[in-house]
Amino acid sequence: MLSILGRIEIVSLTDMLEVRDEDILVASHLKKYYRIRRGFNPFDRSKPKFVRAVEDVSIRVPKGKTVAILGESGCGKTTLARAITLLSPPTSGHIIFDGRVIFDGEGGKLRKVNYKKLYRDMQMVFQDPDSSLDPRLKVKDIIAEPCKGLLDIEKEAIDAIVMESLKAVGLSQEHAYRLPTHLSGGQKQRVAIARAIAPQPRLVILDEPTSALDASVQAQILNLLLSLQTNYNLTYILITHNISVAEYLSDFLVVMYAGSVVEQGPTASVIANPRHPYTKTLIASAPIPNPLKRTLLTTEIIGEVPSVINPPSGCKFNPRCSYAEQICREKIPELREISPGQFAACHLAEKIP
Ligand SMILES: Nc1ncnc2c1ncn2[C@@H]1O[C@H](COP(=O)(O)OP(=O)(O)OP(=O)(O)O)[C@@H](O)[C@H]1O
Ligand SMILES: [Mg+2]
Repeated sequence: MLSILGRIEIVSLTDMLEVRDEDILVASHLKKYYRIRRGFNPFDRSKPKFVRAVEDVSIRVPKGKTVAILGESGCGKTTLARAITLLSPPTSGHIIFDGRVIFDGEGGKLRKVNYKKLYRDMQMVFQDPDSSLDPRLKVKDIIAEPCKGLLDIEKEAIDAIVMESLKAVGLSQEHAYRLPTHLSGGQKQRVAIARAIAPQPRLVILDEPTSALDASVQAQILNLLLSLQTNYNLTYILITHNISVAEYLSDFLVVMYAGSVVEQGPTASVIANPRHPYTKTLIASAPIPNPLKRTLLTTEIIGEVPSVINPPSGCKFNPRCSYAEQICREKIPELREISPGQFAACHLAEKIP
């Protein structure tokens, strides 16, 4: 059931996240399952199996802020980004972007979405610039491509936007006529960022924007992202496995483990006082540049990332958690508010040191 209040449509579900004026995006109870394909066998009567890449994830993204999605490889970060952007729509859940329902989980149906408007306002920088930049196109054509499809403007105006975007990301006119293969890793990432900001979006999803770069270029790109955010009033969803990158760039942190959110809250609070053992481990194992500040690991991580096809019962982290008790093996922990604004999905969040 939907009710329309002024311009804002609100899904009347009691457990839906409240939509506040300051939020540009609210995603609630998102699931993304991939059915596992099997070889042809007409006698195979076994039940279909699914990869539960994203399992019941809810996030809100306030305007002008950065929300970081943090987690190790395979935990579902890219899948979540592709679900939010509807590039690979969720299996179920609800997404409200800029006050409008763009995905309605009842039956997992796509709403009638104005994709032209959606992608003008929501852009993505993909994980690997090598595969996301067409090697046959010149840089200027790569940046112009989304503008051609999304903005109803003349070629001259698009050319002007391309040049402005190149300048904004610290590249010169000379780079406009090069092919991606004639650029360094950092320059390719700048082109990918220029392409995303060219249609003047409001929300940009950055999928591991610096993971393929060396440390000095990483720092340049992070500073570039910060200045673009201020100059163009952008909101970011930052996907990363690097807690230092999340700490540097984000206002809010969402920690994912095997497809689920295990902890979320203001970045500074979560990093200063992590409540989930997995977040504690991530923070404890982050490299610290100053050896004098280094401490011994207080939380040891054991074992391997669990299967997202047959996840362990109870808390998915329990086989690797040194604090796990009987309840952790039996009951799935809910994401609970442990301190103001900080949530953790751990039965023992108040007990563990
Ligand atoms: N199209 C697909 N079909 C089946 N399974 C998929 C598909 N895409 C992703 N997966 C699975 O979903 C899970 C999450 O993958 P995803 O790419 O979202 O992880 P990630 O957190 O982005 O990892 P990384 O940090 O390595 O990029 C993985 O187990 C992956 O194998
Ligand atoms: Mg990924």
